[in-house]
Amino acid sequence: MASTTIPISCITTTNLSSSSPHPFPRNHPKISLINSNAPKRQNTISCASSSSNEDGHKNPVPSSSENISDRKLDRRNVLLGLGGLYGAYTADPFALAAPVPAPDITKCGTATISFSEDKVPYSCCPPFYGTISDYTVPSFTRLNVRPAAHTVSKSYIRKYKTAIKKMKELPCDDPRNFYQQANVHCAYCNGAYQLAGAAYDIHPSWLFFPFHRWYLYFYERILQSLINDPTFALPYWNWDNPPGMFFPEIFDDDESSPLYDEFRNQEHRGRFLMDLAYAGQDLAAKEPQIVKNNLAIMYRQMVTNAPCPLLFFGAALRADGYGPSGSANGTVVNVPHNSVHRWVGDPRTEHNEDMGNFYSAAKDPVFYCHHSNVDRMWTIWKTLGGKRMDIDDPDYLNSEFLFYDENKNLVKVKIGDSLDNEKLGYKFQDMPTPWRRFKLTRKRSKALRSVKSIPPAEDVLPATLTKILTFSVARPATSRTKADKEETEELLNLGLEYDDTKYIRFDVFLNDDEEVNELELDRAEYASSFANLAHVHEGGSDAPTTTTWSLPITELLEDLGIEGDDKVVVTLVPKCGGRAMNITKAEITLVAC
Ligand code: C2O
Repeated sequence: MASTTIPISCITTTNLSSSSPHPFPRNHPKISLINSNAPKRQNTISCASSSSNEDGHKNPVPSSSENISDRKLDRRNVLLGLGGLYGAYTADPFALAAPVPAPDITKCGTATISFSEDKVPYSCCPPFYGTISDYTVPSFTRLNVRPAAHTVSKSYIRKYKTAIKKMKELPCDDPRNFYQQANVHCAYCNGAYQLAGAAYDIHPSWLFFPFHRWYLYFYERILQSLINDPTFALPYWNWDNPPGMFFPEIFDDDESSPLYDEFRNQEHRGRFLMDLAYAGQDLAAKEPQIVKNNLAIMYRQMVTNAPCPLLFFGAALRADGYGPSGSANGTVVNVPHNSVHRWVGDPRTEHNEDMGNFYSAAKDPVFYCHHSNVDRMWTIWKTLGGKRMDIDDPDYLNSEFLFYDENKNLVKVKIGDSLDNEKLGYKFQDMPTPWRRFKLTRKRSKALRSVKSIPPAEDVLPATLTKILTFSVARPATSRTKADKEETEELLNLGLEYDDTKYIRFDVFLNDDEEVNELELDRAEYASSFANLAHVHEGGSDAPTTTTWSLPITELLEDLGIEGDDKVVVTLVPKCGGRAMNITKAEITLVAC
């Protein structure tokens, strides 16, 4: 068969700074490695680090008089919630019922850097020799165990370092080469591939979990073959468990290690406790409170806010592209997946490389450790009960991806073969999941001022999130029965319009007002956190992204003892980048999801 070879380059982390059109500022203070005293938390870091305006780069931050509503609107809706929930997993009259086909490598094009309109300065496309075969999953007689990264032995670390070193030493045009592997992520996530004639990104859709599972599966098999050890398994970053809520030391124990990456947030090295909803700014809360907040965040994202597949996995994506139903992140994709990426990314770089931008994220070896835990969340979520099950839509199950396997064969895989990690030959070391029963109780001590005195959403919205916003939202039904609650979810839908080149985080509270204790998330009033990681800007438009963000509130209303009320008080607390976020509307709907 005739071969089509697309020129490729071997990307190293060091040429990033020299080939980048906007070199990284070099005058940053050096922070010492593994400091036994955790670096002091500060509340002054600019959370708009992606804009790099201090360095005279492009993407200026809007001046205080300019907010997002002044800018040209993109009416292409990107909906979760209303459109997404009604249209996504059920019969969408506009949907072309067909699975997403494997990408056409011969049409692989230029990738775009997330948070920007800049092009990735090298090709993210894999080499192509003209042959693709269907992948058959081998049968496994014994399961490998992926260990929690903070528990691994010295001999494991040695093995892991050797494997990654060998991967980095493979020839540049070997598809198993470390940087070729990193480019797999760039190609699927930064618009190098086309779906229905448009660049696409697998993240804000139901492709997210299976894509990354397959990606790690082949990555792990390549590592196994390079060290001739079929029992080797990738570690997972156990960020949902307090002992794992730090940057995993094995990736930062030695700056000459193959697991080290210089493009990371220097403040977060050593024993710096993570904030799982991080979006560019460290919180002023005390450490024990941050741990409780993290457990509350995990409980909300895995249990409360993900009662059904749509909310956990994200929007449907079929052969016709995102279409009228739009794209939408699953709960865990937004927080903590995106936020952990950001927490690791280096604010000294222009685009928060490496982890903080999809095109460069997989150049940091910790990427695969982070995703191993994201993958574990998929497995755990299905054990939590209720409607928490895999999607059975044939368009999902038959969607395909292409990967190179450990023998350099280009293979086509289907989502349907990835649903059970044990069928792929691995499981996870057991670790506690303390968030699972982390009961959030009502904490507000002061009485809320009367709901009557709180203005309705219609009087407050639309509004830019430059300060705390409090408003009431009418409910379509009160005192719902148990059977009714099992049937339909009560959702708070927030209309958002925002500049996705900015870091934005805000937190949502119910039955609380401007006096909300915003540093305390471990309580029934806390609903969720929004933390975006930008999508690719298709079509080069600088128009805002519009979306509807849907939060299930049934459990909160019960825990707060306000199931009988006909209105709910909603408070939105901006933590970062609120100026780039317009809240357009708020309403409550009942939806079977
Ligand atoms: Cu594909 Cu964590 O990103």
